[in-house]
Amino acid sequence: MDKEIIKQSLGVHPGFPKPGITFLDIFPLLADPLKFEILITHLMSHITSHTIPQLGKGGKVDAVVGLDARGFLLGPILAMRLGAAFVPVRKGGKLPGQCSKVEYTLEYGKDIFEMQQGTIKPGQNVIVIDDLIATGGSATAAGQLIKQAGGTTLEYLFIVALPFLKGLEKLDAPAYFIVEGED
Ligand code: PRP
Ligand code: MG
Repeated sequence: MDKEIIKQSLGVHPGFPKPGITFLDIFPLLADPLKFEILITHLMSHITSHTIPQLGKGGKVDAVVGLDARGFLLGPILAMRLGAAFVPVRKGGKLPGQCSKVEYTLEYGKDIFEMQQGTIKPGQNVIVIDDLIATGGSATAAGQLIKQAGGTTLEYLFIVALPFLKGLEKLDAPAYFIVEGED
């Protein structure tokens, strides 16, 4: 039921940002507070009933890593509800202070993701959130930054996955997504 509401609420834009790509837009979901609450409740229910119990008694999520830019819309809310830190992973040159960097591959070209040093501490349990996984380049780069910091990625969470692009297969931890986009 809630999955269907979430799916029906996504904006569908064929030909954006370029011909041949159909863009799935999460903003209509966020524009309706009831639907936004359904989305957050759905994600929290997954995390508390599936992700956290795997850690055993007393286990907790220490940090929620959100990916620039649309992961920033979801991550802080989940972090607050979990009593965890929110940690941003940003595109190169946007974060002040000492940062760890990873270069990753886009469909055409390369980009850089950065995380501020000290935000994830060795041994911490981390979940990663983003709006969508396509080729998996972004999420994989975030996973590398978490690993470099000594953290453990418990799970990657997405609203939408495009499994035909095989990004999920590149990840170093399980993934959960709500809606499956079609080719
Ligand atoms: C989009 C989307 C994901 C990423 C997925 O972000 O929001 O973050 O692409 O693609 P991938 O799995 O092939 O890496 P984009 O880089 O367009 O930037 P934005 O979130 O700042 O709009
Ligand atoms: Mg993005």
